[in-house]
Amino acid sequence: MNKKYFINTYGCQMNVHESEKLAGVLKNLGYEEALAESEADVIIFNTCCIREGAEQRIFGNIGALKKQKQQNPNLIVAVCGCMSQQKGIADTIKAKFPFVNVVLGTHNIHKFEEYLLNNINSHKKVYDVWDKEQQIVENSPIYRTSKNNAWVNINYGCNNFCTYCIVPYVRGRERSRKPEDIIAEVTELVNSKNYKTITLLGQNVNSYGSDFGADNINFAKLLQELCRIEGDFRLRFLTSHPKDLSDEVIDVIANNYKISKNIHLPVQSGSTNILKSMNRSYTAEHYIKLVDKIRAKIKNVTLTTDILVGFPGETDKDFENTINLIKYCKFINLYAFMFSKRKGTPAEKMDNQVPAEIKRKRVNEVLAAAKQISKNANEEFLGKTVEVFDSHTDWGKLVEFEEWGAPPANSFVNVQITKVTAKKLIGKIT
Ligand code: SAH
Ligand code: SF4
Ligand code: F3S
Repeated sequence: MNKKYFINTYGCQMNVHESEKLAGVLKNLGYEEALAESEADVIIFNTCCIREGAEQRIFGNIGALKKQKQQNPNLIVAVCGCMSQQKGIADTIKAKFPFVNVVLGTHNIHKFEEYLLNNINSHKKVYDVWDKEQQIVENSPIYRTSKNNAWVNINYGCNNFCTYCIVPYVRGRERSRKPEDIIAEVTELVNSKNYKTITLLGQNVNSYGSDFGADNINFAKLLQELCRIEGDFRLRFLTSHPKDLSDEVIDVIANNYKISKNIHLPVQSGSTNILKSMNRSYTAEHYIKLVDKIRAKIKNVTLTTDILVGFPGETDKDFENTINLIKYCKFINLYAFMFSKRKGTPAEKMDNQVPAEIKRKRVNEVLAAAKQISKNANEEFLGKTVEVFDSHTDWGKLVEFEEWGAPPANSFVNVQITKVTAKKLIGKIT
């Protein structure tokens, strides 16, 4: 009987896709995917450390394996990803959870196979975390787990150093993949594997290519190249930084039907003072003007965002500005987070930390405002035509069809919206 693996993935889409690469390695070694952790011979924790809560949950879940390990001493437990990349975490794991077999960080993830085999062959633990980012490794095997959507990395790392954020410390500096490698991967996914949606991944996709030092390639040009690939597919991308979303990119989105009209554009705060202290490099006014420009140029665009409340020094007035900005921008959906101190970031040591109960109150206010806005924003689609795939719009809203029978499977259809409820849009195929 084949041995089985189980991967626990935490954090963002970057990690979801990296887990597909770990699965690719395991599949090549002859392992099969386990349906439950309790059936697995290899258990991986692909970790995140963006907020303290994420870390505590992961430690709890690793600890919970102690019993399974006692019952099955051959069980292999591996920990990788952003949390294990942080200084001192490998030692903490060693001390608290001595049963863990393999620990590695983000910069040596390509060594996973070697470390796993070392551990199997020698029964020695492998704890190895590198402190510097490496050159991009191409051609790793990938076992894709998402049905219609395929994730494709375009750049890794981040140079922005927002003062609250741990990502630049655990993912290293920005490195872009070569355009020809990205184009080859997307072409294969669309033409040979029949994927309908391709989501390009990077911490800041808009600065794609800036590390090449040549001006013949940038994010707008990459998007254009990818739109030339034959086939009926849509391109999405995560995440855009408001300081780098250029007119050129907006025009390319507006002029290519193959690019999704839903843009995730994290604003974090509506207060210019707080944005400055966050080192976001734009003002609230800049963001609002950018949104106006996007709406003027891209027909039927929808915007989503991230909001971070309770950043050190955030006053009631600052927070009010955030609520006003959210209302003005009419985000169709948003993610709201309470500021969490991250070790080694500038915001950890800032004065005027905001008490937990105020953070909680503010996050709830943001969510309440978002709910109302999202409802109104959906209503604005009454009478309009939206593109639907697999019964969903490109911002993830469920669409029901007025007519009997299902729409053509696996293809994009235009639907004129005739009715809107809290949960779904209803319409007819045009
Ligand atoms: N590169 C992306 C995503 C970063 S992480 C970007 O720049 O938008 C995703 C979200 O987590 C961020 O947008 C931010 O809202 C939130 N986040 C980051 N650090 C955080 C912290 N220390 N506490 C709480 N939320 C945080
Ligand atoms: Fe973090 Fe800012 Fe980089 Fe996003 S842009 S990953 S929030 S440092
Ligand atoms: Fe978390 Fe790392 Fe993503 S810290 S949010 S998994 S880049």
